[in-house]
Amino acid sequence: METVRIGMAGLGSWGKNVVRCFSRAKGAELRAICDGDAGKLAVQAGLYPDATPVTDFQALLDDPELEAIALATPAPTHFALGMRALEAGKHLFVEKPMTLSAADAETLCATAERLGRTLMVGHLLEYHPAVDWMKTYLDSGALGAPLYLYSQRLNLGTVRPDENALWSLAPHDISVILYLFGAMPESVAAHGEDFLQPGIEDVVFVYLRFPDGRAGQIHISWLDPHKERKMVLVGAQTMVVFDDMAPMETLRVYNKGAVLPESPNRTQVTVRHGDVLIPHVNAGEPLQTECQHFIDAIRTHTPPRSDGRDGLRVVRILEAADRSLKQGGVPVMLETAVSR
Ligand SMILES: NC(=O)c1ccc[n+]([C@@H]2O[C@H](COP(=O)([O-])OP(=O)(O)OC[C@H]3O[C@@H](n4cnc5c(N)ncnc54)[C@H](O)[C@@H]3O)[C@@H](O)[C@H]2O)c1
Repeated sequence: METVRIGMAGLGSWGKNVVRCFSRAKGAELRAICDGDAGKLAVQAGLYPDATPVTDFQALLDDPELEAIALATPAPTHFALGMRALEAGKHLFVEKPMTLSAADAETLCATAERLGRTLMVGHLLEYHPAVDWMKTYLDSGALGAPLYLYSQRLNLGTVRPDENALWSLAPHDISVILYLFGAMPESVAAHGEDFLQPGIEDVVFVYLRFPDGRAGQIHISWLDPHKERKMVLVGAQTMVVFDDMAPMETLRVYNKGAVLPESPNRTQVTVRHGDVLIPHVNAGEPLQTECQHFIDAIRTHTPPRSDGRDGLRVVRILEAADRSLKQGGVPVMLETAVSR
């Protein structure tokens, strides 16, 4: 299989991690790096002397040897830069959120499909080994029927001026819930407050309801004393806690549950307390796995796990949640058919 020559645009606080992982990906050659900020570009050029440094994104498009472009520029630029990359015939990796509207995300998907290009969105947690473990565990049936999942993504900062905490942080939680449940919610409701910047919510609570009664709740904030990245998945048989901030043993399975009365004469629901299991989770940096997955998807002509359609589903939920947020928490209904 041939080496994929890749160019990376956006070398800011996150992009410098992404470029490191693409520089190490097997079967990839980091051919060019791009940032409009000459200072940031110079720092990364020192680390990757074999990559051509450019300040103008057009230079990536004009390079006929370049097959793929990765974007870690600010979210408002994703659609325009992504379209230019695809129309120039490049495969595209784009950071989350894929776009700031579902219509734009749909156009990116349709363009990639029409041109036969690989389109992947940086839904990092879908490549986390603990999330992989949860997915395998859930699919094995050991959890019992999944009932609900709640997540917390909290910290003090980074306060972004051009997107609210919902668009900045919730793509991770939404993408995991869709990945684990394998379904779209039928309705989304969101409440939130803009304490720091008018019109830009810093703290948001999102409630997702699925057609079969499953539910998801997401609490995101960049105005919180705690740094939390936690998910709790409650099933009919057991319960799983994923604490991404724990120094070790990030996953715990609680053999706990409620036991419903067996006969109509007994009405009391009893609870069951069992052992706590700390499963072994494979090591591996999720971002390295994610970048390798993009390169492998191009080389093997297989759709990536977090493909454009996955990105579109997440943006549709973000858009609906934002609408609910602006309407005081009124639930917004969604189309539940999962399109590929
Ligand atoms: N997957 C994750 O866990 C994760 C974490 C943080 C951020 N992100 C995402 O990564 C993206 C970037 O976030 P960040 O925090 O690094 O932002 P940032 O502002 O620190 O960096 C963005 C960089 O893009 C450059 N840039 C902007 N427009 C450009 C253009 N047209 N051509 C070339 N360079 C351009 C800027 O100069 C800047 O260096 C966002 O979409 C964000 O949501 C993802």
